[in-house]
Amino acid sequence: MAYPDVYHANDNRYETMPYNRSGNTGLKLPAITLGLWHNFGDDRPLETQREILRTAFDHGVTHFDLANNYGPPQGSAEANFGRIMAKDFAPYRDEMIISSKAGWYMQDGPYGFGGSRKYLVASCDASLKRMGLDYVDIFYHHRPDPDTPIEETVAALDFLVRSGRALYVGVSSYSPELTRRAQKIARELGTPLTIHQPSYSMFNRWIEDELLATCADEGMGVIAFSALAQGLLTDRYLDGVPESSRLGAHKMNSGFLNDDTLTAIRELNAIALRRGQSLAQMAISWVLRRDEVTSALIGASSVEQLKNSLGALDAAPFSDEELAEIDKWAVDRGINQWQGATESV
Ligand SMILES: NC(=O)c1ccc[n+]([C@@H]2O[C@H](COP(=O)([O-])OP(=O)(O)OC[C@H]3O[C@@H](n4cnc5c(N)ncnc54)[C@H](OP(=O)(O)O)[C@@H]3O)[C@@H](O)[C@H]2O)c1
Repeated sequence: MAYPDVYHANDNRYETMPYNRSGNTGLKLPAITLGLWHNFGDDRPLETQREILRTAFDHGVTHFDLANNYGPPQGSAEANFGRIMAKDFAPYRDEMIISSKAGWYMQDGPYGFGGSRKYLVASCDASLKRMGLDYVDIFYHHRPDPDTPIEETVAALDFLVRSGRALYVGVSSYSPELTRRAQKIARELGTPLTIHQPSYSMFNRWIEDELLATCADEGMGVIAFSALAQGLLTDRYLDGVPESSRLGAHKMNSGFLNDDTLTAIRELNAIALRRGQSLAQMAISWVLRRDEVTSALIGASSVEQLKNSLGALDAAPFSDEELAEIDKWAVDRGINQWQGATESV
């Protein structure tokens, strides 16, 4: 094994990471959060997962984002995280923000999808069991559900907090209007929503129209997921499609990488190099340029990728000229696969 079996977290772990307040709440999140959607299922070696998680925590990444269905198979990312939690991170539980979610498909039958109280409460309990935790720090409704009244979903989130299963609650991929409705109900119940988790990157800018302002008005933080556009906004595809990549492994829509998008990736890569950054680093700096964005939520399939991405924290601020140049290429490129869920309610 390349690293010691007994983990002692880096003593300097809080020296470089900025921590931002989530909206007007008391919760501070690291500028960069690690997500476990891909790369933490049973198809990946547990030791690699462990090394990535250790590296993250050693660099001040206190926030780990999970969901009931992450894997493959569904549930395995939480189970693997639970194993590593027990081995390495148990002494550090109070220094970690661990989130989970329910809303997307988890199991067959009427209680494995949506926003019902039945699904959310049972799923939260199952997530806690898989991860070996007493509580999660943040629990999200993972996507809007047209078949459940928003009052029921938000009341279920309130219940999760009151029953001690979650400390904070949030929503994901909600439209501005649904966010306002949900927050009104949540406030009336006494458990305001702490955070919104939407997709956001240089190739997917939908939240700039209204959602960012809505979240600021509603006192909610914003954690921007797939800030690297699932790897498109990195050097991964500059010279073809590696077999080991998300696209090469058919875990991403192959239509996302067309000729126009590849041209944009190359142009943006050239801008990043002129700034002395990797494209991944520039993509992370770019989502964090907005004050409303609390944290950039990224994935990594290796320690090297994660370390490279963390280098975004050393970046110089963007000049107006650089932002204008980026704007020529940073346009919506049809990669928001969550749009249908947002528009479903
Ligand atoms: N709320 C929701 O509905 C929702 C939906 C999606 C995601 N999320 C959350 O957001 C997290 C991040 O999503 P994501 O994995 O799509 O994020 P992402 O950061 O946009 O993409 C991650 C992928 O980019 C590549 N990569 C990362 N860093 C790199 C680097 N420095 N250089 C080169 N390539 C690099 C890797 O691709 P390869 O695997 O090809 O190496 C990695 O798997 C998820 O884990 C999850 O927690 C939430």
